[in-house]
Order: sequence, then C-alpha cells, then structure tokens
Amino acid sequence: MSKILVVDDELHVRKALQTLLTKEGYIVQEAEDALNAMKLIETYPSLFQLILLDLNMPGMSGIEFLQTIHKQCPEIPIVIITAFSTAETTMKAMSLGAFDYIAKPFNIQHIKQIVAKALHMKRLTNEVKHLRKTVASRYPLNSIIGNSDQMQEVFKVVGKVAASLVTVLIQGESGTGKELIAKSIHYNSSRAGFPFITVNCGAIPENLLESELFGYERGAFTGASTRKAGKLELAHQGSLFLDEIGELSLSLQVKLLRFLQEQEVERVGSSSSFKIDTRIIAATNRNLAEMVRNGTFREDLYYRLNVVMVGLPSLRGRKGDIPDLVQFFLARYAKETGNDFSYISPEAMDKLIQYDWPGNVRQLQNVIHRSLVMASGNIILPEHLPELSNSQTATSDRKGLFVLREKFDSGFTMRDVLRKVEIETMRWALHRTSGNKAQAARMLEMSRKAFVYKCREYQIEITEQGE
Ligand SMILES: Nc1ncnc2c1ncn2[C@@H]1O[C@H](COP(=O)(O)OP(=O)(O)OP(=O)(O)O)[C@@H](O)[C@H]1O
Ligand SMILES: [Mg+2]
Repeated sequence: MSKILVVDDELHVRKALQTLLTKEGYIVQEAEDALNAMKLIETYPSLFQLILLDLNMPGMSGIEFLQTIHKQCPEIPIVIITAFSTAETTMKAMSLGAFDYIAKPFNIQHIKQIVAKALHMKRLTNEVKHLRKTVASRYPLNSIIGNSDQMQEVFKVVGKVAASLVTVLIQGESGTGKELIAKSIHYNSSRAGFPFITVNCGAIPENLLESELFGYERGAFTGASTRKAGKLELAHQGSLFLDEIGELSLSLQVKLLRFLQEQEVERVGSSSSFKIDTRIIAATNRNLAEMVRNGTFREDLYYRLNVVMVGLPSLRGRKGDIPDLVQFFLARYAKETGNDFSYISPEAMDKLIQYDWPGNVRQLQNVIHRSLVMASGNIILPEHLPELSNSQTATSDRKGLFVLREKFDSGFTMRDVLRKVEIETMRWALHRTSGNKAQAARMLEMSRKAFVYKCREYQIEITEQGE
C-alpha cells in the first residue's frame, strides 16, 4: 500500500486530503510544516512513495523544502499544492523537479488522477532502475576475458576512465571487443543507471545520420510530421557509443565537434540549441591518425575524441588468451546445445592456438559455437573444427592490406623477401576472389597468363572453385 506524506500548514486542507486519499486506499501521514516533514523523511528515508506539498507555509518555504528533498531523495515524486495566484512560484517549483501540481480549490477527480500517475511513474522508475542494474551486472570487467599483459593494461585504463567520465576512443581491428569494452566503461561508471545508446556511423546514410544524432523539428524536411529527439538527446546523463566513427562525413564531424565543445544540441530545422549531458565513447577499426594526415578526419575532432585512447590488441597478438576464451565460450554455448558442460580435445585446442584469427574474438566465438553444433555432443575434436589455415586467410585485414609476418633469419636475399611478398599477395587475392584466377589477376593488375604462370612457379595451390 502506498504511503503519502501531506505537508500543509492548513489543518482543513490536510484533513480533506487525508479523507480523500484514505478512501482511495492510500496511507496518509501529515506534517504541518516543512521542518516536521523533513524530520519524518530523515527518520524514514524510504517510507514515502509520494509527497503532496503546499508551497506557501510559514517557516521553511515549500520551495526550499522541495530543493532539499529532491536532492536527497530524487526518486520520491513531489506534487505541489498551489493557488492559481502563485503561477510564478509554481513554475519555479516545476523547474526544480516537482512532478506536477494541484491547484486550489481542489478538483477531487484531478487529485486522484495526479496521485495515481505519480505513483505509477515511481513504480516504473523503480522497475527501470532494477532492470538497468541487472543489465549492468552483465558487464562487470571480470566477464571480459584476457590474462595477457596487453588486456590487463586495457582493463587498467578502462577502470580509470570509467570513473572519470572523459571522452574515450577505442581502436582495434574488427571483432576485438570494442563494443564490449564501450559497454563495460558505461556500466562501470556513475552513468550506469542511464541509457547506453549505440549509433553505427558506417551503417546509416549521411543525410539520415544527422537527424539520427541530433533529432529534428516538425517540418524540418518532407516527411518530418512530428518532432523527434536525436540519439545524443536520448542518451542524456548516459553514454552514446559512436561506432565506426571513421565513417563520419566531414560536415558531421564539424557538428559533433561543436557538441563536444559546447555540450549543446541543435535539432535539424531548429534555430536554437539546448544543453545535454551525454558522454561520448567512440570506436573505430581504422587508423584515425592516418586519416587526419590524409585530410579525411578533422584533427581537432580527433584530439577531442582521443582524450583517452584504449587500443585493443588483435587476438593473434595475444595467443595466450585463446584457451581462456575457448573455455569461456564453451561454457556459454554448452547450455544451448543441451549440455551442462563442454570440452575440447588438446589437439583441437592446438589448432585454435595456431590459427591467426583475422576476425579476432568474434571469429573464435563463432567457430566454437559452430563446432559444438557439429560435434553434436559436448566434446570438440579436430574434425569438428572448420578449415583454419593461416595461408589462405593470409594476414589480410578488411582493406586487403597485409603484413608480412614471415621471420627471416640470416642469409636471405632481396629476392627471397620479394618472393614471399608475391606469394602472400597472390594467396590473399585468391582468397578474396574465392579462388577465381582471372579476378585475382585483375585485382593485382597482372595479366591472367602471368598470374597462372607465377602460381605454378610458386606452387600456389588453388583449392577453391572458380575460374
Ligand atoms: N575479451 C573478451 N572476452 C569475452 N568476450 C569477448 C571478448 N572480446 C570480444 N568478445 C565477444 O566477441 C564478440 C565481438 O565483440 P565486439 O562486438 O565487442 O567487437 P567489435 O570490436 O565491436 O567488432 P566489430 O569491429 O566487428 O564491430 C562479442 O560477442 C563479444 O561479446
Ligand atoms: Mg563493433
């Protein structure tokens, strides 16, 4: 049963509200002035679900009381009781966080509605808080696997930045856990109870992205029949995760920079701006510093975003983490395949450790998932694994560049090195074109004849279909 505190200096008002609300099934407690009310709340901080407050009282004013209580217990809605003549104070009380107001003389129906609405809101807020806590508990730092020095270093930085609320830039190859780290920064910060919203800058066309981020006014463009809040605004007091920030156009870079400087948002089609308190966490798998050098990313924005940089290592650069990750994913997917636990043979584990994982943790996760299904039991043997060959996937990243990882000891010549480069490049091109020699040759601007000749010379096997 909800408990309501009525604070009013006039006895007949208190009695009238008491009778009405008790009839509605609420428990009502009275206080004749702000000081007494304050004492009650301090003694029983979570007793009341709602406060009805007269603004005009001798001693401590209703406004003063409202300010103090709203700060101490922001979760208790406060409805003010006010005369029409004091519109200005009413406005002030509303701006200080009052939930709503009831005007004197009372309209019984109106009182019932407002009280019910305020209590409903309070319940909803509690539920949302509870839900957010549950979600937050899914992202404790210890659910991110990584015992390697590189990952331990990442966790240290994440722990520090989570508390400090600065803008963070997360850089790492595809599938290294950028979004996971962004979430853990948010959910380990004081903003955990507020929204975490993601916008993928690479997935939304530029003209839509602007209104997606900043919102728009009614009539801003054809089809804008109502006003819409942008994601920056929706993430107020929380965090906005800007994924693939390297894809942001130069004109939107200017707008984002302005937001980071002023913390102000201007909706599309509006001429005024308003303040917003949203933390930005950005991520990219591109080399932003290089984009700055090429003139495709603004230097000033780069420095604004890059207050703290979290660099996520590739999985092949921290192979020691592979066994832990495998165990983690085995446990996660065991239940799904109807087992209490799953197991992997040492031979299969060896294969996983030897592989270079161009798709990083995401790829490893998918392989474990798929292999458990293939195993149709709970033991993964080498034959349940997909083909994992480093030579075919080469060392290419998404853009098709590659790093020559072959180690040359003493006694090699320029010819040896170039030969290796050629082999890697051709294998990569064949992989990209699913073994289609003609296409691979075109990609490398070679004649098909020369390509086939070199394939033979280097004994490059064309295992995949295509011509
Ligand atoms: N260290 C880790 N421990 C446990 N799970 C991880 C770890 N790193 C990544 N994952 C899991 O791998 C998957 C990919 O991670 P995430 O989506 O965060 O990567 P990403 O860097 O954002 O990838 P992309 O660039 O493709 O968007 C997710 O399911 C995530 O939960
Ligand atoms: Mg991602």
